[in-house]
Amino acid sequence: MDTSRVSAALAGKKMIENKGNKELIKLLNQAFNVECNDTFLYSREAELFRKKIKNGAEVAAKFEKLSNTELRHADRVAMEIINLGGSPVWDYELANDGGSLRTRLKMHLDKELYMYNCYDSLLKYDLDDNFAITLKGIREDEKEHIRLITELLKGLR
Ligand SMILES: [Fe+2]
Ligand SMILES: [Fe+2]
Repeated sequence: MDTSRVSAALAGKKMIENKGNKELIKLLNQAFNVECNDTFLYSREAELFRKKIKNGAEVAAKFEKLSNTELRHADRVAMEIINLGGSPVWDYELANDGGSLRTRLKMHLDKELYMYNCYDSLLKYDLDDNFAITLKGIREDEKEHIRLITELLKGLR
């Protein structure tokens, strides 16, 4: 009997069986892709809005910080994919960066919510303890991104 699973069940933790890690690797790769694409997108938008809008430098600094954080997330998720025996595969997506700041922020709000939920779902899997701690930290970062973008949106009204 797998005692760790029994103790997890006793602790009331919801555990999902990793089917040879395949399902987990697939989900982590999906997260890795969004993280990579957002790293590039936030960085590109930072440069666009720096010139385009009145308080551009301020917005650009926030977007650059977001880009750096998503890069760290991508790096950590990629490491875990390799630890599980998989390969991080990034399918570069030429994302639309047009439209107003409001349009862009609304899109990012949806994506950040998606990522928060994605990490929340991943935490229900039977993960390596250290990675679970890291993932909780990443989930908190996404929560902070949701807060930041909501605040930026409010500032536009
Ligand atoms: Fe992220
Ligand atoms: Fe984020």
